Amino acid sequence: MAHKIGVVGGDGIGPEVISEGLRVLRAAGAQLDTIDYDLGGQRYVRDGVVLDDETIEEWRGLDAIYLGAVGSPEVPPGVIERGLLLKMRFALDLYINHRPFTAPDGSHEFVVVRENTEGTYAGEGGLLRKDTPHEIATQGSVNTRMGCERAIRYAFELAMKRRKHVTLVHKTNVLTFSGDLWPRAFDAVAAEYPDVETAYNHVDAACIYFVEDPQRYDVIVTDNLFGDILTDLGGAVSGGVGLASSANLNPNGVSMFEPVHGSAPDIAGQGIANPLAAILSGAMMLDHLGESEVAATVTAAVEKVAGETGTTVEMADKVIEAL
Ligand code: IPM
Ligand code: MN
Repeated sequence: MAHKIGVVGGDGIGPEVISEGLRVLRAAGAQLDTIDYDLGGQRYVRDGVVLDDETIEEWRGLDAIYLGAVGSPEVPPGVIERGLLLKMRFALDLYINHRPFTAPDGSHEFVVVRENTEGTYAGEGGLLRKDTPHEIATQGSVNTRMGCERAIRYAFELAMKRRKHVTLVHKTNVLTFSGDLWPRAFDAVAAEYPDVETAYNHVDAACIYFVEDPQRYDVIVTDNLFGDILTDLGGAVSGGVGLASSANLNPNGVSMFEPVHGSAPDIAGQGIANPLAAILSGAMMLDHLGESEVAATVTAAVEKVAGETGTTVEMADKVIEAL
């Protein structure tokens, strides 16, 4: 039976990598019934639409969403990021951002579990006396017990299927409120998983370990902003962000799959973007839809060609040959 997939190519290199992703998934045998959603900066410039509620309602009936990248330089910062991507994550309650990283030689794999609906991303704050010499900007961080606990629980469940090791990353020495809640929630969940070994790192130290000693990690759980930054670093230390894939998960609803990289307007339209992260994100989508064998075939094929170079289409061709 075909899976019903909503496709948001988005902006810049997004549509280029997503169409190659779909081509590879289909070549691997996936049956995909796709519905295109013309959304992103380009669409906004054309008619002012960012994301309407009807579209969100329609998405609830899909099996999954496959997204390229959104954001364009001609649109003011935040309009598309907050109005489309974050709105999607929040409205569909995609509370886990699951981002795996594999050393290019396959020697080590670790996963960052990023809380995906709260923190500084929640949008708390505002501007006072804007454009005056006395202007004030605040940007709060929203951390609920429920929100951090469900991310932490997901990390422990994941750890049980892996090396049984979870590291909490935060900045408890400075953020003494959210940094009080998170470790308490972590310890409470950890007590339910006596077989799982735990560790804690401050986020700045974690940046050093990502570069110098990533082997110490298996599953990492962290908040939204730390997770955003750490996962770009994770991409950079494990073969480049061109390989970094992600799943935005609502374990009880529709989930969304997207590469970690952005829309890269500087190289858009040239056909040179690396499609491997989009292809790997597509494999995560298939795995999530119960097609674990096809997903594993695609992932293995990507690993075979990960060190090679080529245009967007050539790279996808190489993956298809390697299937
Ligand atoms: C990501 C992106 C987004 C984020 C942006 C585009 C809003 O950087 O998925 O990592 O910060 O979450
Ligand atoms: Mn990011």
